[in-house]
Amino acid sequence: MSSSNTLSRTETWRLLVLVGVGVGILVNTFQGDGAPLIAAGSLSIIAFAVTFSMVRWLGPVFIKAGLKGKDMAKPRKPEIPETMGAVCAVVYLLSLIVFIPFAFYKDIVAATSGGGNRDVVIEDQHIEHGRYLHRFPHGKLASYLSGLLSLQSIIILGIGDDLLDIRWRHKVLIPAFASIPMLIVYFVDFGVTQVVVPVPLQRYLGDFIDLGSSYYLYMAAIAIFCPNAINMLAGINGIEVAQSLVIALLLLFNDAMYLAPVTPYPHPATDSHLFSIYFLLPFIGVSAALLCHNWYPSKVFVGDTYCYFAGMVFAVVGILGHFSKTLLLLFVPQIFNFLYSTPQLFHLIPCPRHRLPKFNASTGLLDASVTEWTIPPSPLVATALDTLHTLRLARVTKNESGQIIESSNLTLLNLWLVWMGPMREDRLAWHMVAVQTLCGAAGLFVRHRLALLVFNHDNRMFQYLV
Ligand code: UD1
Ligand code: MG
Repeated sequence: MSSSNTLSRTETWRLLVLVGVGVGILVNTFQGDGAPLIAAGSLSIIAFAVTFSMVRWLGPVFIKAGLKGKDMAKPRKPEIPETMGAVCAVVYLLSLIVFIPFAFYKDIVAATSGGGNRDVVIEDQHIEHGRYLHRFPHGKLASYLSGLLSLQSIIILGIGDDLLDIRWRHKVLIPAFASIPMLIVYFVDFGVTQVVVPVPLQRYLGDFIDLGSSYYLYMAAIAIFCPNAINMLAGINGIEVAQSLVIALLLLFNDAMYLAPVTPYPHPATDSHLFSIYFLLPFIGVSAALLCHNWYPSKVFVGDTYCYFAGMVFAVVGILGHFSKTLLLLFVPQIFNFLYSTPQLFHLIPCPRHRLPKFNASTGLLDASVTEWTIPPSPLVATALDTLHTLRLARVTKNESGQIIESSNLTLLNLWLVWMGPMREDRLAWHMVAVQTLCGAAGLFVRHRLALLVFNHDNRMFQYLV
């Protein structure tokens, strides 16, 4: 029998086989022209195996360092390691770094006339003035590195937050700073700040509107929103990672539609979508490994580090891949959760430190958690809460004299429990996976099909798919 922080014999063998397969494919890519897509796939298989084992091994080390949290929805509230997203994030960063030579292998071979071919004669004038090189795609490398830099900054913030528990209003702007390198590269590399105007409005506004510098503010807002939005839709086992995996898989599906043979090559959007796939594949690898330990009943928590890191991966691919508006369509549950939370975030309604659903030890089920009104709400807030209650958008409890004493916390998880009644934690997590998948699939459908009703064309030329 294996103890809780070692790998069992079967697990060890399976992981070794996975690593073997990954390394085998990776080595093979060098026989062709580097095949970056296949290299990214095999690196993510290796990243899965490494993350899976490291998360298991490092549990006691994290607990010893004080990185632990109480699982509130269990009868005994056991303490388990927290901040395991940091392991995930580090493995991810290392995979992205290892991937650089693969992504640029073809160009490196061309630039050094044969993969570091040492017998190329260096002539006198070349020693003086350098050699004539194949035009290496520095621009693409800059995009890639700026994404990496933004991710590194956000991971530092995440770890700081998990160690020191920073208040959200203090940390909310940090992702905006982290996005600066990316926005600069966007400015130099792409620079498009125009948005297409829907056909019915073109008569008044023209075909495009140039948003100018506000487009950069919009992109910084995306970089602030995505990490925080994932962190707010949290609190039950597995949900942070599961929602991120669903979003990543849907993005991957969307990217794949821009590749040959679905979309004929060359197509102007192919490169941006390839870029996005390179960032998403290892993310899916490390997240799937973390989910194995974090799904109900959790053996580890992911911490804010994972939520910020995951959100920033999406912001990076959305911004540098030039599809930030499509990205937002995949964030519909998170956007709803944020808007629905605003009365509590802005303290119109008291906001307790935790708003996660409440565990009922006698039934073993979760129900909506509540805010208790020790001082009765103002008449305006009371009317608003009454209206929400009538519309079944919140649950309000009153005393005999008709005063509000409790109102359910305004999060999507609690609202779902108000609608569906109490349920088990893993069932609620599955429901959220379904909501995320359905909303995301509908979002992509709207993006590629219904948008044709109000725009002249889809940039992917969808008719090739059907
Ligand atoms: C955010 C939410 C907060 C929610 C918390 C849950 C906002 C503004 N903040 O805060 O309302 O309660 O996430 O993660 O919306 N935990 C569990 N089971 C889980 C996951 C977490 O019990 O499956 C508990 C653990 O005690 C863990 C703690 O939540 O230690 C982590 O909370 P933390 O990530 O620090 O909360 P915030 O991100 O600040
Ligand atoms: Mg959190």
